[in-house]
Amino acid sequence: MKAIVVTKPGDPAVLQWQDVPDPQPGPEDVLIEIVAAGVNRADLLQRQGSYDPPPGSPPYLGLECSGRIVSVGESVTGWSVGDSVCALISGGGYAERVAAPGGQVLPVPEGLDLAAAAALPEAACTVWSNVFMLAGLREGETLLVHGGSSGIGTFAIQLATAFGAKVAVTSSSTAKLERCRQLGAEITINYRDEDFVARIKEATGGRGSDVILDIMGASYLARNIDALAPAGRLANIGMQGGRRAELDLGALMGKRAAILSTSLRTRPAAEKATIVGSVRKHVWPFIADGRIKPVVDRVLPIIDAAQAHRVIEAGQHFGKIVLAVRD
Ligand SMILES: NC(=O)c1ccc[n+]([C@@H]2O[C@H](COP(=O)([O-])OP(=O)(O)OC[C@H]3O[C@@H](n4cnc5c(N)ncnc54)[C@H](OP(=O)(O)O)[C@@H]3O)[C@@H](O)[C@H]2O)c1
Repeated sequence: MKAIVVTKPGDPAVLQWQDVPDPQPGPEDVLIEIVAAGVNRADLLQRQGSYDPPPGSPPYLGLECSGRIVSVGESVTGWSVGDSVCALISGGGYAERVAAPGGQVLPVPEGLDLAAAAALPEAACTVWSNVFMLAGLREGETLLVHGGSSGIGTFAIQLATAFGAKVAVTSSSTAKLERCRQLGAEITINYRDEDFVARIKEATGGRGSDVILDIMGASYLARNIDALAPAGRLANIGMQGGRRAELDLGALMGKRAAILSTSLRTRPAAEKATIVGSVRKHVWPFIADGRIKPVVDRVLPIIDAAQAHRVIEAGQHFGKIVLAVRD
């Protein structure tokens, strides 16, 4: 088969569509003929050589895909050859075929095409597992989403709104903030020239945010704790602002607050299967009834993977970019 290969760590030009060995599915896997793959920020880090795939994963980029099942391992139940699916994978989406664990496969929600479905698994599983399963966001609570315009952010806004939470977002421009508002965000904060702590406190009568979905890490740690409500939960999923920071335990204790941090890609297959099962039960119905729509900025042919990375690096996208592998 062909796949996008990182010929050496570096800028987007190192991505090349080349012949590679076919995947070898095991008894727990289904083999998917890929139609489309979602692009994630983690792919940029892997391309640069700073985010290796976990052991046993395909070496190619791509944490999610959609397509049709072409073979089913003997231990897999619930899937058949010919099913249209999307899947959470730990690598190998930028390719013509991938072997995906049967527990990490989801049906294409009714009414969606395969390109749109490829934009769902990573955002749905990350947001559901962190904001709901771990941080326990409840109806009526406030969620602050840093990076509301991201693939993750656009999904988080819609999911939290669907569950009756009040959503605040940060982003870099008025235009992106307006689009976040159209997705359901009630409080929009320009991180370039506004103080998100002051804005959150003002919007919540001084209480703060019950849950924060954070992608910045070190540079926002102190301010995030300041912005939390009593018994607030900070769910950290990214380190775009660095990995090391000093933590004021007194500030955390005083609020009875919690910090949670997870990486979906490195979680064991059994945990991923639990998350995927929970997403299918709790999140998929909102997609099937149209209350949540994947926000796809653009679909590019797979051979233009480098261009997709350039757009993301320049911050020119809103939501997800999808790569089309075949019709
Ligand atoms: N731990 C996990 O399991 C997991 C899983 C998936 C994703 N993630 C992380 O989640 C993040 C989003 O992923 P993605 O693929 O959706 O990325 P993406 O679409 O490239 O989005 C990156 C976002 O960062 C925002 N941003 C940049 N500087 C910011 C700042 N100072 N304050 C607030 N926001 C800022 C950008 O907002 P503007 O465009 O407005 O500048 C943009 O929305 C990444 O950090 C990724 O690594 C983690």
